Amino acid sequence: MKELLKKLTETAAPSGHEANIRNLIRKEIEPYVDEISVDVMGNLIARKGKKQKDGHRILIAAHMDEIGLMASHISEKGFVYVASIGGVNPLTCVGSRVVFLNGTVGVISLETEKIDKVPTINQLFIDVGATSADDCPVNVGDVCVFDRPFIDMRKRMVAKAMDDRVGCLLAIETLKQIKESPNELVFVFTTQEEIGARGATTSAYGVDPEIGIALDVTLSADTPHCTPVNPVLGEGPCIKVRDSSLIAHPAVIEAMKKAAASRKIKVQMEVLRFAGTDAGAIHTVRSGVPSGCLSIACRYVHSPSEMIDTSDVENAIVMLKVLLENPIAL
Ligand code: CO
Ligand code: ZN
Repeated sequence: MKELLKKLTETAAPSGHEANIRNLIRKEIEPYVDEISVDVMGNLIARKGKKQKDGHRILIAAHMDEIGLMASHISEKGFVYVASIGGVNPLTCVGSRVVFLNGTVGVISLETEKIDKVPTINQLFIDVGATSADDCPVNVGDVCVFDRPFIDMRKRMVAKAMDDRVGCLLAIETLKQIKESPNELVFVFTTQEEIGARGATTSAYGVDPEIGIALDVTLSADTPHCTPVNPVLGEGPCIKVRDSSLIAHPAVIEAMKKAAASRKIKVQMEVLRFAGTDAGAIHTVRSGVPSGCLSIACRYVHSPSEMIDTSDVENAIVMLKVLLENPIAL
């Protein structure tokens, strides 16, 4: 499991440029699915099983894109100025390294006299070691992501893009393990979540599900002086109750609680004051879809070092498998 999560998190694939991660996931799941396809928006759609009595068509969404930066201007001296892709915090950028999809590595910085103030994205530049614009291996429109290795801290794991490659991991592992289900399972590895759940919006329309379940990280509240919200690392998978994009459907929440209880898995109820997931997009397509979200508590979300707990991931896989192998009463 950790081997696969390392591969998933170390793959570079910002929103709108998901090919690398899509190819990796496709290879990983192809032997385990009945049908696999890629739609216009780049979503990877994997179908498994037929709907039986008591069963539903369930869309399970995990977004495969990650936050990143896009070159918006190359200066005469060869420095790269950027626009953000998704919610990139300039505070976490200074001193970080990035890698462009063509393999070019760069260092993010800003003018030294500004280093004691919180910068804006516009003040940042990437130094790719060029001496002039002509010499710069990056072009306007090129995209990059944080360049950080996955680290196994045993109880905890840290990497860039845990958001949402850990969701992808949950989907992949469940897909591999499920043998029998009364449900028609449609796993969608979605694109462009970080810029507004765009892949989930179109794929949910195409799949036309009866139930929607997103798999994503959520903000933990166990750092020294944080705002009190519920999820903490290591206390179990989180059942989302609400965020700014969704009020989870009571029947989906109930089914998740039941699945966890049947395996004696401790869960946390998640009430998030802000942010959203693919479930926010899925539940309002067509005439509406009862939806929920299974989340993994995560520290330092959208930084180059997102930290999660290993047991939370293991328990979420067990819980999701039970949830999908049984009928969900709406
Ligand atoms: Co995110
Ligand atoms: Zn996410």
